[in-house]
Amino acid sequence: MTIHFIGAGPGAPDLLTLRGRDLIAACPVCLYAGSLVPEQILAHCPEGARIVNTAPLSLDEIVAEMRAAHAAGLDVARLHSGDLSIWSALGEQLRRLRELAIPYTITPGVPAFAAAAASLGQELTLPGVAQSLVLTRTPGRASAMPDGETLANFAGSGTTLAIHLSIHNLSQVVAELLPYYGAECPVAIVWRASWPDERVVRGRLATVEALVDDALQRTALILVGPVLESEDFAESCLYSVGYDRRFRPQSASSPFAGTAPSDERVDKSVDKRGEP
Ligand SMILES: C[S@@+](CC[C@H](N)C(=O)[O-])C[C@H]1O[C@@H](n2cnc3c(N)ncnc32)[C@H](O)[C@@H]1O
Repeated sequence: MTIHFIGAGPGAPDLLTLRGRDLIAACPVCLYAGSLVPEQILAHCPEGARIVNTAPLSLDEIVAEMRAAHAAGLDVARLHSGDLSIWSALGEQLRRLRELAIPYTITPGVPAFAAAAASLGQELTLPGVAQSLVLTRTPGRASAMPDGETLANFAGSGTTLAIHLSIHNLSQVVAELLPYYGAECPVAIVWRASWPDERVVRGRLATVEALVDDALQRTALILVGPVLESEDFAESCLYSVGYDRRFRPQSASSPFAGTAPSDERVDKSVDKRGEP
């Protein structure tokens, strides 16, 4: 008997992984975080499955469900929104399960920031503009931020920020970032990315607050950084003509000559410099 933690994706039911879908279909118990996991995903549960919305439950009550399933020898699909590696309360559930010696697996999901980037039609790292993406949040009622994890500290890099759980704090976010990014820095707010009622608001640090109405609550990402409107960026070396690489050696004397497998579909491993 195993608890299968599954990232259920950002909202669109078809952004669930095939592995996630198959695990849900194989588990007679499904515990789902009902505040963000779309109900259509529950259609993959087998006939007669015990399906529990854990949104109103405490951690103790959730673990009690897991213990009961374990005692009955039933596998559990445990669904959280997006991916499990960020803001999913996974860590505390895993710690309890380790204490109870209950086995678990983890299946990743599509995170909200990736869905938001897709909605914007943009890459969040561009050569010479931004090569890092900071996934962060501002303090909430239930979660203080560790010392040092301030917006100002992250903003010092000038790179792209994906600020979660903070739409209610927008004026604070703007005030903290203005001195670093400037009034003209582009900002995008993606509300309910990939859901049918998704909304996108684009503006600048100086204007974005005025563009956001009261309907944009809770499930929104604030993306900030020059990458959001850069057209003037260098192309990556990877595909440039003349760039010597494993899959395209440029001469017989190239260190890569003769090293590429005949079929790239068979071997997608990286070369010594960590590039495909
Ligand atoms: C508790 S966190 C969950 C994050 C999730 N584990 C992930 O991988 O994206 C919830 C926050 O993620 C962001 N979020 C989740 N789903 C979203 C979506 N579909 N569109 C925009 N933001 C979303 C919002 O900032 C929201 O406040």
